[in-house]
Formats: sequence, structure tokens, C-alpha cells
Amino acid sequence: MAVYSITNQKGGVGKSTTCASLGTALTEKGKKVLLVDLDPQAGLTTVLGFNPDSFETTIYNALLYPEKQIIKEIIKKTKVDNLYFTPSNLDLSGAEGELLGEIGWDRNLKEALSPILNDFDFVLIDCPPSLGVLTTNALMAAERVIIPVQTEYLSFRSLKQLNSIISKVKAKGNPALKEKVLRTMHNTRTIHSRETSEELEKLFKGKIYKTLVKRTIKFADSALAGEPILVFARKSDGALAYRELAEEIIHEQKTNH
Ligand SMILES: Nc1ncnc2c1ncn2[C@@H]1O[C@H](COP(=O)(O)OP(=O)(O)O)[C@@H](O)[C@H]1O
Ligand SMILES: [Mg+2]
Repeated sequence: MAVYSITNQKGGVGKSTTCASLGTALTEKGKKVLLVDLDPQAGLTTVLGFNPDSFETTIYNALLYPEKQIIKEIIKKTKVDNLYFTPSNLDLSGAEGELLGEIGWDRNLKEALSPILNDFDFVLIDCPPSLGVLTTNALMAAERVIIPVQTEYLSFRSLKQLNSIISKVKAKGNPALKEKVLRTMHNTRTIHSRETSEELEKLFKGKIYKTLVKRTIKFADSALAGEPILVFARKSDGALAYRELAEEIIHEQKTNH
């Protein structure tokens, strides 16, 4: 079992898309995967083709009362074999304030997930576009962080902020946490993209996945259809990229790099 947090406080960089697509690619390689929607905006739940408002009990309840093991009741099947998810909706926006007053507020998600970890090969957590209580919980629960970065609109300030939160989490209780950047929405026609790749290399020093996800309209089309791109357009460049990423992920698990 391996827990990954898909994190970037910028919105629209491809977090939810990566979660659904990578999850599907891992199932194609024989893995059993759980996707955790940790965003009150419920991008992942929506991308998977579900209506967030249709769920009475969500990750919000599991997160607030980890000792009740609610996680077991909220795991749902997706349209893809061996791909499961836990839904989210706007209820989760209340969690920030409610958790902050509690002792050990940053470990609730880790505790909430613990009863089901042995049931899955991979757990991928889709973070909200902020660096608050929810994202900190995801980073505490994870062994690795995937940081999707849009190469066209690189924001160094926000990447440095994210790096500093990751360092704090390492210092305060999750020292083994490893981070790597995934370049998304890459536009091969601009020179700018090449420059940002070089800048990223400086900031993350080799901690960058080889896979490069290009910009393509197929992702928006597949989201509208409520199907991961690997199902919606199985042979598209986007689907191939996430299969390549799944291979990198399986390899890094084997070699521990
Ligand atoms: N590689 C890509 N090329 C083009 N559009 C993409 C790509 N990845 C994601 N998208 C689209 O960009 C939008 C934002 O992606 P999303 O995964 O929801 O980002 P986030 O979860 O970081 O907010 C969505 O409409 C999605 O379909
Ligand atoms: Mg999202």
C-alpha cells in the first residue's frame, strides 16, 4: 500500500485530472486503487461522473470522526474496475475551522484512512487549491507528494510556499515524505515551456517525473463525459502520458527512489 498526495495550492493545474487518470492507469497495471476527494469543490467526484450533492456521508464525516471508521462506509465503486473513491462536497469546507481547535488536527486523515489501507495497493489524495488544514492532513497521511505544475504559467512564489509547507510537515512528523513535480498542460510550441522546465529543474533538482503531460482538449471532453481519459480516449496522447506516469510510479515504489 502506498499513499500519494496530489498537491498544489494553485487551482486548475490538473490535480483532479491527474488523480483520476493516474488512478485508472494503475488499475490497468493490475493495481487496486482508492481515490480520496479532499476538495470541498469536489473536482474529483465530478470528474468521475458523480454529483457531489447526491452524497449524504462524505470524506468530511470520516475526517471529523476518524475513530468511528466512517471511511469504510463511504468507499464507492467507479465505472473503472478496481478503481474506488470517497466522495466530497461543500460540507468539507466546514472542516478547516472545526478541526483547528482539536489536538492532533493534522493527523485526522491519516487516522481515518488507517482501517482500509491494507485493502488497496495505492491511495491517491486529491487536495484542494489551498495550503490549509486539509492539505496539511493530506501531506501528513502521505508517503509521497505529486505536484502537478502547469509549465506555461509557472508561479515560483507559490512553488516556494508549497516547498516550505512540505519541509514543515517533514520536520513535524512525516520525515520520510518525498516530493516530485509532474509537468502538465505542456505546450511544446512555446519556448517559454522549455525555459520553465529549466527553472523547475533548478528548484526541484531532479525531483521531476520524466512524463510530460501535454495540453489537449481531450481532457476537458473526458471530464464532461464523466470518464477518465484512459476510458474516454484510450489511445490519446493524454492517456499514454498517464500510463507512462503509472510505470514511473510503480518503478519508484520498487526501487524506493
Ligand atoms: N493536460 C491537460 N491539457 C488540457 N486541459 C487539461 C489538462 N489537464 C487538465 N485539464 C483541464 O483543465 C481544467 C483543470 O484541471 P483540474 O484537474 O480540474 O485542475 P485542479 O484539480 O488542479 O484544479 C479541467 O477543465 C481539465 O479538464
Ligand atoms: Mg481539483
